[in-house]
Amino acid sequence: MQVLPKGFRHLPGFLDRAAQEALVEEIRAVVAAAPLYTPEMPRTGQPLSVRMTNCGALGWVTDRTQGYRYQPTHPVTGAAWPPIPPSLLALWQSLLATSKPPEACLVNFYSDTARMGLHQDKDEADHETPVLSLSLGNTCLFRLGGQDRKDRTLSLKLASGDVVVLGGDSRMAFHGVDRIYPATSTLLKNGGRINLTLRRVTI
Ligand code: SIN
Ligand code: FE2
Repeated sequence: MQVLPKGFRHLPGFLDRAAQEALVEEIRAVVAAAPLYTPEMPRTGQPLSVRMTNCGALGWVTDRTQGYRYQPTHPVTGAAWPPIPPSLLALWQSLLATSKPPEACLVNFYSDTARMGLHQDKDEADHETPVLSLSLGNTCLFRLGGQDRKDRTLSLKLASGDVVVLGGDSRMAFHGVDRIYPATSTLLKNGGRINLTLRRVTI
């Protein structure tokens, strides 16, 4: 049996189809204001296969020269990030027992061949407030480990409308996306998967 770390929550199908469609429209508006860009690994400059943008006061970005960081502006256009849609702020409030609102919403767009290597979310000053993550579009294979890279990992599928909370012992757990399963959702007309990750950054 796979034992999930304390504080990890997977809420399958938390968003119904109508809520998913409404959210996709909101994300389209975010992407219109803040286009998806191709992030790069620090130092090597190797491009990530996931394209990204953000909404919120702060956005998570990475490139060859400056590496992983949060900043208030888009790295390509230089414009301030658009605000986090009110529906996502409401979701955060309803699911998390915190009075601190999220400051960053990372928008990850996976083509059907994209993946994300195992990593910890640790660029935030706040390591306590949970991370809230939503899946839209094609199903992915999500891998969750422990707080040490060498810890055993387990895998679970995340489908469109699923919500994941990395809280408690899982806040600093290694995680990644091993693969996308093409044609497993009709939500996004051109396939792929969108992941929205809401985070508190400052203390
Ligand atoms: C991430 O860890 O930034 C993304 C996780 C996911 O796509 O589900
Ligand atoms: Fe992450």
